[in-house]
Amino acid sequence: MSAAHNRVAVMHGVNLDQLGRRPAGHYGALTLMQLEARVSDFAGELGLSVQFFQTNHEGAFVEELHRLEDAVDGLMLNPGAWTHYSWAIRDALEIASLPAVEVHLSDVDAREAWRRESVIRDLCIATVAGRGPDGYRDALVLLRDELGRMSA
Ligand code: DQA
Repeated sequence: MSAAHNRVAVMHGVNLDQLGRRPAGHYGALTLMQLEARVSDFAGELGLSVQFFQTNHEGAFVEELHRLEDAVDGLMLNPGAWTHYSWAIRDALEIASLPAVEVHLSDVDAREAWRRESVIRDLCIATVAGRGPDGYRDALVLLRDELGRMSA
């Protein structure tokens, strides 16, 4: 794959900076910093270059999406609770028009009914949920394959 098509932005939304303090049964014990170190290792194995972003401010998440179109080739996003209701983030993702994979640490479809709704799912090439940190690796593989197809 050409070096020009391997740049992935990993975007974490609201409350993901609190990993390590959240219910371990759903989210595991890693802090965000530890999770990002794992994701960097996965990306290295897969020949992808990753950059990370986290915010608790919806507008900042939207503005980062506005900025990314020319800066990266693909997106992996876990918007946290915004996933379930933020039409603003959905619209910004549509504007970014990049291949994207939605990731959740927990199995959102097996939890409360409100977590089953995702307003971004149909804009993403795939959703990976309930696989903990390994789900981020699965998502990177899906993105790498998609970027490979796009640049073939
Ligand atoms: C989450 C699931 C969301 O429902 C929740 O609000 C989060 C994290 C996950 O990674 O499992 O903050 O996106």
